[in-house]
Amino acid sequence: MDTIVSCTNVHKSFLMGREAVQALRGVTLEVTRGEIVCLMGPSGSGKTTLLNIIGGLEEPSRGHVLVDGENVVALPEDALSEMRLTKMGFVFQSYNLLANFTARENVEVPMALAGLSRRERQDKVERLLESVGLADRARHYPSELSGGQQQRVAIARALANDPPILIGDEITGDLDSETGFEVMEVVAKLNREQGTTVVYVTHDPRMAKFAGRTIQLRDGCIVEENAAL
Ligand SMILES: Nc1ncnc2c1ncn2[C@@H]1O[C@H](COP(=O)(O)OP(=O)(O)O)[C@@H](O)[C@H]1O
Ligand SMILES: [Mg+2]
Repeated sequence: MDTIVSCTNVHKSFLMGREAVQALRGVTLEVTRGEIVCLMGPSGSGKTTLLNIIGGLEEPSRGHVLVDGENVVALPEDALSEMRLTKMGFVFQSYNLLANFTARENVEVPMALAGLSRRERQDKVERLLESVGLADRARHYPSELSGGQQQRVAIARALANDPPILIGDEITGDLDSETGFEVMEVVAKLNREQGTTVVYVTHDPRMAKFAGRTIQLRDGCIVEENAAL
């Protein structure tokens, strides 16, 4: 099996004043390339912390994390930035688009950071906006787009540098269920067509149906794993 994400006995504690909050208490998890994995669990159970550790945004207090063959914990900061730029696509609940940039420009930003020429960026942006169904919205500003459209731009932006992994934290949380469904259908299509591995968090069992596997967290531990719902 081709493992793309491997977490072994991952712990994370945050210091709050003098008290340590245990956000993760020994999580072990393997994700196979091409899989869609959904994380569920009550608020405060450690879902965001686990995503952030997989994405190299946060360091575990203890444990091992391998992402696409790289030991995330041991990477120096510049290699970690490079990894976040090229191996990970992040999508959040609030779309986090740059308000003064058009849809096209938002998708271009990570490409420019990765050093792509204007020409390369243009071809790619078009393809990406097309793949999320927004080819005709390239010149719109975020304020001129609906929530679902903004989130699809955010997905296109996350995929700007063809990352093997897409990470989503409650990406449908601000959308009505029909729009949320459409956004998840876009994610599932990208997984099918490009083989992008997806790890996402949701509260909504209907959104969990897009996953091949659902993992339940409670108090920083994995308590249950199910194959597709
Ligand atoms: N930066 C932080 N500083 C202190 N505590 C944090 C921080 N981030 C998360 N926590 C705590 O860690 C626990 C897990 O949080 P989180 O991963 O955000 O849970 P979830 O995403 O499942 O709601 C919570 O108790 C939360 O308060
Ligand atoms: Mg969270």
